[in-house]
Amino acid sequence: MTYSYNPNSETWWREGVFYQIYPRSFADSNGDGNGDLGGILAHLDHLNDGTPQSLGVDAIWLSPIYPSPFDDMGYDVSDYCDIHPMFGSLQDFDNLLRAAHQRNLRLLMDLVFNHTSYLHPWFQKSRSSRQNPKRDWYIWKDPSPRGKVPNNWQSVFGGSAWEWDEATQQYYYHMFLPQQPDLNWRNPAVREALYDVMRFWLERGVDGFRLDVVNAYFKDALFRDNPPRFGLRGYDRQKHLYDKDQPELLEVYAEMRQLLDSYPERMCVGEVMDGHPELNARYCGEGKLHLIFDFNFTRQPWHPAAFQNAVLRAEANLPPGGWPCYTLSNHDISRHLSRYGGRYPHERAKVAAAMLLTLRGTPFLYQGEEIGMRDGKIPYAMIQDPPGKRYYPFYKGRDPVRTPIPWDDSAGGGFTSGKPWLPLNSDYRQVNVAAQRDDPNSVFSFYRKLIWLRKDCPALRRGSFEPLIRRPSDGLAYLRRSEGQTILVALNFFALPATLRLDFDLPAQKWRTILGTHREADEEVALERTIQLSPHEVWLAEAI
Ligand code: NOJ
Repeated sequence: MTYSYNPNSETWWREGVFYQIYPRSFADSNGDGNGDLGGILAHLDHLNDGTPQSLGVDAIWLSPIYPSPFDDMGYDVSDYCDIHPMFGSLQDFDNLLRAAHQRNLRLLMDLVFNHTSYLHPWFQKSRSSRQNPKRDWYIWKDPSPRGKVPNNWQSVFGGSAWEWDEATQQYYYHMFLPQQPDLNWRNPAVREALYDVMRFWLERGVDGFRLDVVNAYFKDALFRDNPPRFGLRGYDRQKHLYDKDQPELLEVYAEMRQLLDSYPERMCVGEVMDGHPELNARYCGEGKLHLIFDFNFTRQPWHPAAFQNAVLRAEANLPPGGWPCYTLSNHDISRHLSRYGGRYPHERAKVAAAMLLTLRGTPFLYQGEEIGMRDGKIPYAMIQDPPGKRYYPFYKGRDPVRTPIPWDDSAGGGFTSGKPWLPLNSDYRQVNVAAQRDDPNSVFSFYRKLIWLRKDCPALRRGSFEPLIRRPSDGLAYLRRSEGQTILVALNFFALPATLRLDFDLPAQKWRTILGTHREADEEVALERTIQLSPHEVWLAEAI
């Protein structure tokens, strides 16, 4: 079979499927209990071996693998141009990149440019004296006239965002931990240094970047207090008018875009904090960022109308050159099966996957969702994530979504021959890759069928999105249409049989099943204005 998806085209990032790897938890090749680059290399076949035996994703995003003291699990970088020894070396990285490219797998690095680790040499110099040339690379302020913190800004992880430096008698600003001082993007030398980091990785051949908290690079030039608002935690009790989303961002995005465009077929995807479609619209599109995760999508309850409204809102807000970008899970939020699975994790995993992979837009998968992983349970004594320690038991942190991938049901789950840095999920003997590989009804088999089908369907990759029900209550029904192909997607969200009543005429009466949880491929179905679905049925059909 030849596939029509061309991974070597300018539009690869609009049409391909992305997969987030959280390296410490993916696969450990040296038995120290931590995932590493060797582990990723050894499991590339799982991601894409060129056949439908594999998942078939087109690109991977690696969460940070740089040298770091791991105060925020690597999102605190102490050297942007090297690899943490726990993960391997630059040589290992080059080998991985080469092996990925041989499989038409693209690779994105995670750039954490809002802040560095306090151990980064830039910050070490910056804090060494007020006269140091690097002083102005970070955000230093005198105490307020009353001898207190410069203003009311709060850290996302709790407490004031200002940390007192006894030696130089000033405060520095940190949006996250005190060990993560924010860079001063108003300083042109900082910008240039960070653009050099981008060039360093682009020259090595990476295909693009995921940009961490990309809307927080600039803070208000006047350092005004944020106004209050109702919320539970300190950070949530303010309207963030002044500590992020400043107009200066657009100039930086234009510069980054130009830099990326000066290399062939490169892209970036931004993580916009507290993002929603109206805000994302400011930042993506022509001359700006290629993609921005639509986090509004992740905040929906398990209801078809909620997701449809989220999609219509995203579509309505797309700026020129913009393109939707959906995800259901990542390393910061509860896994979607823990949010949505309820008593039917297996069934809902398929419905959710079908939705994610057939909407118009670029889908991002998070490692483990392809086998239907749920959040792990981490005893207090084993919590590693700083906000988890701080807010336990009200908030247990992000460790539960970062537990190791179980490759098989052996003692270390095939993840490690040692002691995993976080415990394997308690159900790993059932929920693991090996158990699902040969089971045609597994969640993994469903993901691979869908992803390989997508490669062959221009309508799914780039066609229009046309909902068929105005106010869906039981399930979603929509068309994806491109030149020469029309695909109907029908999804029953619930455990009862459903009759979906369409509000619009269909463009064809006869449909041929191309993928279904309850119907055989090639089965022909005649449709008028209703679609009958079994409980949790996924049905994709092509107009004939
Ligand atoms: C967003 C990252 O996704 C998260 O894991 C991290 O803690 C913060 N940025 C700070 O870098």
